[in-house]
Amino acid sequence: MPTTAPRADFGAPRHVAIIMDGNGRWAAARGLPRGEGHRRGVEALRKTVRAAGELGIGILTIFSFSAENWMRPASEIRDLMGLLRRFIRNDLAELHGNNIKVRIIGERDGLAPDIRRLLEEAEDLTRHNTGLILVVAFNYGARQEIARAMRGIAEDVAHGRLTPDAVSAELVASRLDAPDLPDPDVIIRTSGEQRLSNFLLWQAAYSELVFVPIYWPEFDRAALENALAEYRRRERRFGGLVVEAGS
Ligand code: IPE
Ligand code: IPE
Ligand code: MG
Repeated sequence: MPTTAPRADFGAPRHVAIIMDGNGRWAAARGLPRGEGHRRGVEALRKTVRAAGELGIGILTIFSFSAENWMRPASEIRDLMGLLRRFIRNDLAELHGNNIKVRIIGERDGLAPDIRRLLEEAEDLTRHNTGLILVVAFNYGARQEIARAMRGIAEDVAHGRLTPDAVSAELVASRLDAPDLPDPDVIIRTSGEQRLSNFLLWQAAYSELVFVPIYWPEFDRAALENALAEYRRRERRFGGLVVEAGS
């Protein structure tokens, strides 16, 4: 009887990252204002966080607002900031009750003081939780994150705390916003767009990319399971060769 050995990465990936895209198009397709798409997007997020915990995912990173999203009309930015405020106020207790640890990546300088406080409150309250790690990328841009890391390294070199030859890929990685977390195994993007839009450029070096042709408000546990099934069909090589079981 032919046997297939389970692949090394069989089971849930450790770190799943999601570009939650298509809220506006979901709304437009229904003749609704874009803000309604964002509100429905929060519902999809709740479902996805629950499903990620149930499926045994260790880390879920979500792209919720990019450094470039400030270019949108003021009314849409107001909607999005309002939703973030409401999400933290309404959902933080439940996230905490479910042992979820919230982490924030992105630039905090320049955010409205009350938003900054809410982000800090979410991290502080859940700091010692041991369940799913929910990483919220807010006011996040990967190039800006890498530039911040470089600035810190340049300051250390300028002050003689580091020599240029100490600057390695590992050192740069250790200066990113969440240096203790492993790179995402898979990055899922909804809405059919096939690009990273300045998300986790450094960390995505060997991530599998899964593009899903549905809008974010339609995403749910079944969609997540489908995306993870696609991930499991991939063969990750990291530049090396796959060692077949038994060889
Ligand atoms: C994703 O949906 C949410 C954010 C970027 C904040 P979009 O608002 O980008 O929706 P589309 O891509 O315009 O449909
Ligand atoms: C990426 O989506 C940002 C978030 C999902 C938060 P965008 O909708 O901003 O990306 P582009 O503009 O289509 O590349
Ligand atoms: Mg979009």
